[in-house]
Amino acid sequence: MSSLQDSRYILEANNIRKDFNVKVKNNKIVAEEKILKAVDNINLKIKPGETLGLVGESGCGKTTTAKLLLGLYKPTEGKIICEGTDITAFKRKQLKAFRKKAQMIFQDPYESLNPRFKIKDVLIEPLIIHKIGSNYKEQLKIAEDILEEVGLKPAQTYLERYPHEMSGGQRQRVAIARALILNPSLLIADEPVSMLDVSIRAGILSLLRKMIKERNLAAICISHDLSLIRYISDYTAVMYLGKIVEIAPTEQLIKKRFHPYTEALLEAVPNPDPDFKISLQNIKGEAPNPVDKPNGCSFHPRCVKCMEICKKEQPQQVEIEKGHFVLCHLHKNKNS
Ligand SMILES: Nc1ncnc2c1ncn2[C@@H]1O[C@H](COP(=O)(O)OP(=O)(O)OP(=O)(O)O)[C@@H](O)[C@H]1O
Ligand SMILES: [Mg+2]
Repeated sequence: MSSLQDSRYILEANNIRKDFNVKVKNNKIVAEEKILKAVDNINLKIKPGETLGLVGESGCGKTTTAKLLLGLYKPTEGKIICEGTDITAFKRKQLKAFRKKAQMIFQDPYESLNPRFKIKDVLIEPLIIHKIGSNYKEQLKIAEDILEEVGLKPAQTYLERYPHEMSGGQRQRVAIARALILNPSLLIADEPVSMLDVSIRAGILSLLRKMIKERNLAAICISHDLSLIRYISDYTAVMYLGKIVEIAPTEQLIKKRFHPYTEALLEAVPNPDPDFKISLQNIKGEAPNPVDKPNGCSFHPRCVKCMEICKKEQPQQVEIEKGHFVLCHLHKNKNS
């Protein structure tokens, strides 16, 4: 990501790791404590107006990365710098201020909206928490404006409704409105359309893209669907078992991918089914359990181009072209 280095980043994650202690039954009686490396030494940088796509199979650590970046998890190691400050050292009050700046949109809008709240209350609640607007009338006006901005017009038609009185697409628009009402500078969307009917996905995605550009947000969009990532993201990071194995400007990555795993992802057949798991036809088996990662490169047991070194040594990240990084023994730095 060297091309980003000359400008101001909204968010910078430096060598972040997240380990979970999990109990694994090695036989029917004993449960052994093991360490699950959900996020394993990741570096990311994003700047205003730019969207980073995070793509990879289920369990590779996308949501954990998002939660780390939002301060919802404390990293086991590493720093997360937002506008010059390390959020991992924040006290409660600083975290509250940071949460105002950093918002998330979840996969299931029905779960993320309180079913007992009318839409107006869903939207006004964050304004009350963060003391925005001098009275209820002013807060209601802010809520109306944001509803119209996300395409729910006229706002009065929706304010008195409960989430269950709206369609899935309308609920996701409300979730977007709630995320934007505090004027954040960072937005993370975790599989924002995978629960929605295929026919309305494009509308929600184009709304998200428009909001990110108009409001100059730094954004991260998580998906297993590369066509979606291609539509919305300026940069794409491919994750495998907690690591970023390739990262580049999206079009560059699509045209010229270097990691065998990215290759496999790009050749996976797109499938509109919301429960779709990436069907990787040109690699073997399923992703290994992150509790027992293979030695060397974690991808080696499934890699069609596996060499002896891949079984023994972890690869180091190399910048193969300007702004294009890959973690694979097949590739060396251009100058080395
Ligand atoms: N709180 C937790 N405690 C223990 N293990 C966890 C916890 N959260 C996640 N994990 C494990 O960490 C790994 C990464 O999980 P994560 O939810 O980040 O994956 P993901 O890429 O978002 O997957 P999906 O595409 O299915 O949403 C998985 O092996 C998961 O089981
Ligand atoms: Mg997830």
